[in-house]
Amino acid sequence: MSKAKRISALPGDHNLQNYDQACRTFNFEELAREFYGDAAWVNVAHRVLEDNIARGLGDRVALYFDGDDRQETYTFNQLNQQVNRFANILEKHGLQRGDRLGLFLPRSPELYISFLGAAKKGVVVVPLFEAFMEDAVRERLQDSGARALVTTADLLPRVPRQHLPGLKTVFITRGAVADTDNTLDWHSEVTAASPVTRCCWLNREDPLFILYAAGADGRPKGLVHVHDIMLGLWYTSAWVHDLKDGDVYWCTADPGWITGIAYGFLAPWLHGVPVLVKGGRFDAAGWCRALEKYKVSVWYSAPTAWRMIIAAGREVYGQYDLSSVRHLLSVGEPLTGDVMQWCMETFGIPVYDTWWMSETGMNMICNLRCLDIKLGSIGRPVPGIKAAVVDDSGKELPPYHVGNLAVQRGWPAMARDVWGDRAKYEAYFKLAPWFISGDAAYMDEDGYFYFQGRVDGVINTAGERVGPWEVEEKLKEHPAVLDAGVAGKPDKIRGEIIKAYIVLQPGHQWSQQLKEELRSFVKNGLAAHAAPREFAVKENIPKTPDGQVDRKALRGWVLELGGVD
Ligand code: WTA
Repeated sequence: MSKAKRISALPGDHNLQNYDQACRTFNFEELAREFYGDAAWVNVAHRVLEDNIARGLGDRVALYFDGDDRQETYTFNQLNQQVNRFANILEKHGLQRGDRLGLFLPRSPELYISFLGAAKKGVVVVPLFEAFMEDAVRERLQDSGARALVTTADLLPRVPRQHLPGLKTVFITRGAVADTDNTLDWHSEVTAASPVTRCCWLNREDPLFILYAAGADGRPKGLVHVHDIMLGLWYTSAWVHDLKDGDVYWCTADPGWITGIAYGFLAPWLHGVPVLVKGGRFDAAGWCRALEKYKVSVWYSAPTAWRMIIAAGREVYGQYDLSSVRHLLSVGEPLTGDVMQWCMETFGIPVYDTWWMSETGMNMICNLRCLDIKLGSIGRPVPGIKAAVVDDSGKELPPYHVGNLAVQRGWPAMARDVWGDRAKYEAYFKLAPWFISGDAAYMDEDGYFYFQGRVDGVINTAGERVGPWEVEEKLKEHPAVLDAGVAGKPDKIRGEIIKAYIVLQPGHQWSQQLKEELRSFVKNGLAAHAAPREFAVKENIPKTPDGQVDRKALRGWVLELGGVD
C-alpha cells in the first residue's frame, strides 16, 4: 500500500503502521500533492468547513460546547453559516486580507467562529489568552497592529484603547455594549449578516495567525503561522492522534496557546472529527463528567491537569464511566510516571507523550502508537522530521550526551517569521540547518529522545510558557523593587513554579504585605499564571557581561536554595 493511501482522508486505514518504512519513504512534496491535489489556492477555513460539507459531513456535529451557563452543538453546516456571517461582518467593517484581528475571549463558540471567519477572508488572527491583563494585551495588540478585536464586556477594561489608536472596531460577544468608539454587538451584527460569503483564496504561505510566545529575554515573539500549517496538522493528527471516523476529540488546551489552536480545532476538523470544547475553569469532577457525557474517545491534555484529577481522588473520578476513551496524549511538560501509572489503571491504556512548541506548529517528537513506549522518553521524531541533539556549534552529539534539542529546517507547520523582527526569527536558525528549540535533551541508541528541561530561562508552569523577562520588567516597575531576576523552580504538581529574586530599593523592608502586593502587581499587569509564588530578597541579581540576567546562575540559586519541595 502506498504511503499516500495510508494517510488519505477518513474513513479508511490511514494510521501509521510501519515507522521505519514511513521515515524512509516520507516526503513533504508528496504529502502536499496528496492533501492539496492540484489546487493552486488554499484556505484552511474552507478546508475544515466547505470541504467537509462537500464530502457529506454537513450534518455531523463539529462542535460540542459545554460552558458553565450554556451548552451548544454546531454541525459543520451550522458552523459554516455562522463563520460566513462573521466573515461578511469583517468585510463590511473594512477588514481586508492581511489585516489583523485580535481575539480576546473565553473559550466559547464565538471564538472559533471568529477565528475561521477571519481566516476565510485572509484576515490574520491574533489570539490573546483570556487571563492576560492590561500590559500583556496592550503589548500584543500594539505589536501586531490589530485593526479590530473580538472580546467580551467584562474583558474590555483590560483593553487600553487610548494606547491603541490603530484598533478601529471592537465586537462584543457577551455583556453590555457601550454606545461609543465603534463598539458593536457581535451577535446582532452576525444575525443580520448573510450566511453566504465568498472565500478569499490564498497562497499556502499567507499568514493565518500570529501567536505570541515567551522567550527568555526580551518581549514575547509574534510567531507568524501560515495556512500551510494545515498540512502538518493533517498528517500528525492521523499518525500521532490516531483520529478516525466516529471519534469525539477533546483537547483541553486553551486556544490562547498553540495546542488549543492547532489541535484544539484545526487538526480534528481537517478530518471532520467532532470536537468538545469545555468552558469555565478546571474542575476535576466536571472534566470527568464531560468525558462520560460526550463519549470522548481521544483525549489530549497535560500532566498538570491529570495530577490535579489524581489529587482529587478516586471518589471523584471513579464516579464516571470513562470507558469511551481509547487514546490519551500528553503535551507541554514532562510526562511523569505517576500520571502514566494512573492512566494505565484508570483507562487501561498508556498515555502517549508529544513534544513540540509554539514555533514548530505541529507535534514533532512523539510516542507513536506503532512504537514501544519508553517511560521518561518523549518518543521519536514523527516521519518527515529529522531531530538531533547538537552541541553549541551545531555538531550532532552521540547517544546519551545532553545538548540542544534541534530539528532540521523544512516542515510545513513551522512558524515563518517573528512579526516585525526578522532577526529574531533568524536567530532560531543560527546553527543552520538546525532549528534550535531552546530545550535540552539526549537521545538513546534506539533514537528515542529524553527531554532535560529548558536551556534558556523560559519557565513552564502548569504547561504554560512564561518569559522571565516580562515578569522581571513588571516587578521593576514597582516602587519597592530595584532589580529582579525570575526563574522556574521545580514543583511536584505544576512542573515549575515562578520564583522571583528581588533587590529592594533603599528604604524598603521585606514583609508579607509587600509579597502580596508584588504578586497582585504582576497578576494585574500580566496574568495570574505569571505571578511569582515565591520570593527571596537578594543583595544583587547575577548578570552576564552584556548586562542580561544570568539565567544559569539563577537556575543554580533555585535548585540549591529550594530543590524540589
Ligand atoms: C515544553 C507547547 C516536556 C518544552 C506545545 C517546549 C514539553 C515548550 C513537552 C513549548 C513534552 C512541550 N515534555 N516538555 N512532551 N512538550 N514541552 O510553545 O520546554 O507553549 O520548549 O508549546 O514546552 O511550549 P509552547
